[in-house]
Amino acid sequence: MTGFIEKNGVLHVDNIALPDIAKEYGTPCYVYSASVIKAQFTALKEAMERALPADRQPLLCYACKANTNIAILKLLQTLGSGLEIVSEGELLKGIKAGFTGDQIISTSFGKNESEIKACLEANILQFNIEAPEELENVNKFAAQMNKTANVVFRLNPNLSGGGHSKINTGRKEDKFGNTAEDILTLYKRAEDMSNVTPVGLSIHIGSQVSQVEVFKPGFEKLAELVGILRAQGHTVTHTDIGGGFPVVYHDEANLDLDAYAQWVRDIILPLNTQIQMEPGRYMVGNAGVLLAKTQYIKTTPSKNFIVLDAAMNDLIRPTLYEAYHGIRPVMGHNAPMETYDIVGPICESGDVFAKNREIPTVSKDDLVVIQSAGAYGFAMASNYNTRTLPPEILVDGDNVAVINKGQTLEELMGRESIPDWL
Ligand SMILES: Cc1ncc(COP(=O)(O)O)c(C=O)c1O
Repeated sequence: MTGFIEKNGVLHVDNIALPDIAKEYGTPCYVYSASVIKAQFTALKEAMERALPADRQPLLCYACKANTNIAILKLLQTLGSGLEIVSEGELLKGIKAGFTGDQIISTSFGKNESEIKACLEANILQFNIEAPEELENVNKFAAQMNKTANVVFRLNPNLSGGGHSKINTGRKEDKFGNTAEDILTLYKRAEDMSNVTPVGLSIHIGSQVSQVEVFKPGFEKLAELVGILRAQGHTVTHTDIGGGFPVVYHDEANLDLDAYAQWVRDIILPLNTQIQMEPGRYMVGNAGVLLAKTQYIKTTPSKNFIVLDAAMNDLIRPTLYEAYHGIRPVMGHNAPMETYDIVGPICESGDVFAKNREIPTVSKDDLVVIQSAGAYGFAMASNYNTRTLPPEILVDGDNVAVINKGQTLEELMGRESIPDWL
């Protein structure tokens, strides 16, 4: 058995007991299961293989903002994934992990000069354009470098992705994408430019889309616009249908990948384009936990608090998105249930992982895991309260490796300096 499983009353990741990891590497730390990532990638790939002909399989570009650890990127590259990046840093990590330019899509919002030039240098597959001036810049820098860049235009379809408001990206009030009318103008403009080739459209309406039907109207709007562009004489060879597949955080049903793949078959396949997808959190979310230790149990007249050594700087999703994460002790699962607020040590009332959560009773120094923390966990961690970034550990069967050693306070202090005029 692989993944996060209980053996003899102790939570393991694959064959490794989590208390052993805590003893060796300390807490808090992120622990990832390579086997879960492989299973996620394979499930999506196989759903697409069931629905689409072998010669029309989509390029699955892992949206690495979810988890940019180079070892995770390498794992996905080995599985046959492409890569979606949103910064020069992500590009460099992707290249280091072994991705080639023709597997990389840049979807960043507000692409800067250095990033555009680095992407051009790497001959990436395409730039997904977010705004008219961004198109001008890609053309300008491509001309300076004597290159030609493929561009696709991100459609803002004015649709809600259905998740939390802060992870909706396809409504007209959101900053992302271009209206269909603007894309008609931009496509023409791009065709007149010397150093870009407009090749298609992209869409990404948001994250944690739990109802598969939500994807359908976006696909239909995309297909409709492809039809209009072609009727106007434009060439459309690429459609990027985005990410948004959910992580199971609580007791949600898994997204029906076959139903999704059938919308792709029915609506996108007939367009005869290269199909691209950008799944992020789905690949890695359920593959990671934040392993933490109970520092204190604090009881007040109104609450029982578990004070962990992990905090909102390590995992900000509950604070930022009011996100639910399962929390469970690593041992003692059969203890009587107790209701707690599970908090971190940071000086913010918002440093709360869970409120009024019923879990088996824990005591000082007990280990707990915050589950489904593999996506937008470490990737969003910060040094707030001058806390060091936690280490990241990857497990695969009997193999354990530190894939990020975290930080020391000396390293943190070493980044700052006091001017000699103070
Ligand atoms: C353009 C684009 N593609 C893909 C993703 C990945 O989304 P998710 O992790 O929900 O799959 C995002 C997330 O912000 C995005 O902005």
